[in-house]
Amino acid sequence: MLVALTGTPGTGKSSVASELERRGYYVVRLDRFAEEHKLISGFDAARGTREVDIEALDREIRVPAKVGFLVGHYAHRLSVDLTIVLRCHPRVLRDRLQGRGWPEGKIKENLEAEAIDTITQEATARGPFVYEIETTKGTPEVVAGVVLEILQGKTQGREPGRIDWTDEVLSWY
Ligand SMILES: Nc1ncnc2c1ncn2[C@@H]1O[C@H](COP(=O)(O)OP(=O)(O)O)[C@@H](O)[C@H]1O
Ligand SMILES: [Mg+2]
Repeated sequence: MLVALTGTPGTGKSSVASELERRGYYVVRLDRFAEEHKLISGFDAARGTREVDIEALDREIRVPAKVGFLVGHYAHRLSVDLTIVLRCHPRVLRDRLQGRGWPEGKIKENLEAEAIDTITQEATARGPFVYEIETTKGTPEVVAGVVLEILQGKTQGREPGRIDWTDEVLSWY
């Protein structure tokens, strides 16, 4: 079973992935995998980010385990059985992204994407098994536990549509 662990940058994917790995799960960090397998197809100069060849990535990933977590903000665009979207309140996300020293434009673009549910919408447009976990509070350890609960079928309350940052968005105008 392939599980996409996705979310806007800063929502906690890498931290939760490390915790899953610590618990013995197989994790593919997509950025690293794409780099190692030379699947970078271009460079977005305006954003200062690399573009990954998603189709080639999809073909080349091999998971030698019953469960594999594919981790990255485009993981939901791969052929996965289940997608887990990490979500973080934009105000907290701003603090996390500012801590990275990113330019304000890049921070704003990501806060807006988080605020309007971009990744969840992309994921639900692709397939039925999509769940969300909020990471605004709690710890990566707790969130990893929730990920594993979802894998066991405890999906109640994790359906997309329950997380709503529109109050925050309205406060921007
Ligand atoms: N509940 C939580 N789950 C995941 N990360 C959290 C949580 N609370 C705080 N954080 C912090 O948020 C940051 C998320 O960064 P990171 O894991 O690199 O995100 P991403 O890989 O999605 O860009 C880390 O500093 C992490 O410690
Ligand atoms: Mg990361």
